[in-house]
Amino acid sequence: MGYKLSSSRCLGVCLGLTFIMGCYLASLPIQNERAALPKPIKHIISSFSPAKKRLAIIVPFRDRFDELLEFVPHMYNFLNKQRIPFHIFVVQQKDNNRFNRASLINVGFLHTRNDYDYIAMHDVDLMPINDNLSYKYPASGPYHISSPQTHPKYHYDTFIGGILLINKEHYELVDGMSNNYWGWGLEDDEFYVRLKDAGLKVTRPTNITTGPDNTFKHIHDKTYRRRDMRKCYNQREVTRRRDRVTGLHNVLYKLWSTHNVTIDQLAITVLNVELLCNKTATPWCQCPEPMKPKPSLKQT
Ligand SMILES: *[C@@H]1O[C@H](CO)[C@@H](O)[C@H](O)[C@H]1NC(C)=O
Ligand SMILES: *[C@@H]1O[C@H](CO)[C@@H](O)[C@H](O)[C@H]1NC(C)=O
Ligand SMILES: *[C@@H]1O[C@H](CO)[C@@H](O)[C@H](O)[C@H]1NC(C)=O
Ligand SMILES: *[C@@H]1O[C@H](CO)[C@@H](O)[C@H](O)[C@H]1NC(C)=O
Repeated sequence: MGYKLSSSRCLGVCLGLTFIMGCYLASLPIQNERAALPKPIKHIISSFSPAKKRLAIIVPFRDRFDELLEFVPHMYNFLNKQRIPFHIFVVQQKDNNRFNRASLINVGFLHTRNDYDYIAMHDVDLMPINDNLSYKYPASGPYHISSPQTHPKYHYDTFIGGILLINKEHYELVDGMSNNYWGWGLEDDEFYVRLKDAGLKVTRPTNITTGPDNTFKHIHDKTYRRRDMRKCYNQREVTRRRDRVTGLHNVLYKLWSTHNVTIDQLAITVLNVELLCNKTATPWCQCPEPMKPKPSLKQT
């Protein structure tokens, strides 16, 4: 009885000591890691001057984390040189529908319209490197940064994809972008027609001496990141027409969460968005045919 008692007492003490030691040891590396992290978060132009117009960079996004890691430091570096007050909003599509760049931009706009004066619709894989590309407030009309003369890939006159600046009033005037474009392409061409119908003239940089190879850094890997070019149901026919029904006022979505995160101590905001598809209007938000499998890597 005595033996049993003392042994169980000893066991209790031992367990207690082990537990305390374990807690102590477990706490050590964490404290060390915390101490090693640089403390202040680098908001280079964090205190927005009230006189300056504020820019919301809206990045429609899905599954491109490696590109984002490069994009964020690059944009901070580039825009701080121009003293532009900006914040990056990554609008991440979290649902099983095909990627809808235009609807994500509509959601990004709705989320930022109260605090920002203009937006940049911005591809995450296209980064400006020529310092003459000005991101200043586009007062007189949309300003297309990635012009057909300098975009690495698209060279037709009416191209306005890649990077486009537009102020809040003009984006509202055209009711934002169409929500019909699930899958890759054409939403920017439809937006061009909206701008034209509203009498807005798109201007572009005029003092750029660089060309398609050295105005932007383009980090898109087309074998790894394959574009979803499928066309199903009556998508081809409908998406070639100007959409007068959908836009900013009726984008269907659910904002699941908002996260303030930092990349290399640089603050950005991630919006986690579920886009809701009206299957009567746009059944092609999911095609019955899956994307063809990626070609297997050639052995060398
Ligand atoms: C290039 O033009 C933009 C306006 O389009 C202007 O803001 C910028 O200062 C110009 N750059 C130089 C070096 O003149
Ligand atoms: C920037 O613009 C200035 C004139 O405004 C021009 O002299 C210069 O070559 C341009 N630089 C680049 C890299 O485009
Ligand atoms: C993110 O930061 C903004 C601006 O500082 C703040 O208004 C917002 O509440 C923050 N959101 C979260 C989820 O922390
Ligand atoms: C879905 O689309 C149909 C046909 O275009 C339309 O009549 C209906 O109002 C839409 N529903 C919603 C919730 O927008």
